[in-house]
Amino acid sequence: MALLDLQRSSTPTPDSEREAALADPGFGRFYTDHMAVVNFTEGRGWENPRIVPTANFTLHPAAAVLHYGQEIFEGLKAYRHDDDSVWLFRPERNARRFVGSAQRLQMAPLPEELFLASVMELVDLERVWVPENSNEQSLYIRPFQIADEPYLGVREAKQYLYSVLATPAGAYYPDPVKLWITPNYTRAAAGGTGTAKCGGNYAASLAAAVEAQQHGCGQVLYTDGAEHKWLEECGTMNFMMITADDELLTPALGTILEGVTRDSILTLAPEHGLTPVQRPISVDELREGLASGHITEAFACGTAAVITPIVGFNSPEHGEEAVGDGTPGARTQQLRQHLLDIQYGRAADRHGWLRRV
Ligand code: COI
Repeated sequence: MALLDLQRSSTPTPDSEREAALADPGFGRFYTDHMAVVNFTEGRGWENPRIVPTANFTLHPAAAVLHYGQEIFEGLKAYRHDDDSVWLFRPERNARRFVGSAQRLQMAPLPEELFLASVMELVDLERVWVPENSNEQSLYIRPFQIADEPYLGVREAKQYLYSVLATPAGAYYPDPVKLWITPNYTRAAAGGTGTAKCGGNYAASLAAAVEAQQHGCGQVLYTDGAEHKWLEECGTMNFMMITADDELLTPALGTILEGVTRDSILTLAPEHGLTPVQRPISVDELREGLASGHITEAFACGTAAVITPIVGFNSPEHGEEAVGDGTPGARTQQLRQHLLDIQYGRAADRHGWLRRV
């Protein structure tokens, strides 16, 4: 039985417009006709779960999110298989992480079953918006929660709005990427919000992203805030490397986001002859490994980015440094293909990661 009430749009997107959007979706340019919404008020709890036509919100100008940034979000995808069935990938991990992010931002946590129902019921209603499974296209789902209480005192809000949007998406990074190792910016410090998926982390990454672009790089590779010595993650993805002795190395958890794709790749690694290792990795180790050839491949991973090959680095200290011969690594491509094949139903789902909508 549906948990969310449904108010259907009286003006859904005409088929021809939707088909044009699905033919070349890009990322975040088109939205489905409906969105999910649930409200929270202290004393009453979460109430009025509903799916309504996608429309603007009305917010009081004093809504706490507009002033103090109490906001969290998630990202997951729905995939169309060859038989036209539609599947989510590990949505319960997103539901759990959303609770963790809420706790870090002192927001009311959304019950995980309500998160899952809102995503499932919205995707079920909007299945015509799930693109064909060519060119890595999928329906990207964006659950988010904001503090909409009108109150200017600095304290946790007593009122929240949770919503889910869905947008057809193509590849987020269609090409391999070079990473800028910034000397000027830090993504997160111990005790900060690095493990939470909150808008503030992404707002703070934008200046560094522009700096990266100015140095010919598509993304930033952040180092730790205390010493700028230890590798952390990229602005929108986790970071991994493959070594000549078959290790899949990635920075340990602590101040980085615990990515669902990160966990999935670490789980798949042994099937590709790789030993997954999570530990602190220094910038020096990266440099020496690149120079000696011990580090043979590098890639970044995330829901939107899938697995994006990293072909080089740039930094003020050492200038341009290539990974291997500067082209995407073969094992990176194999891991990427394996993950995509599971998500699109072309490879066995041995870990029970797919949920049918
Ligand atoms: C995702 O991969 O889902 C993200 O949240 C990254 C993004 C901000 C596009």
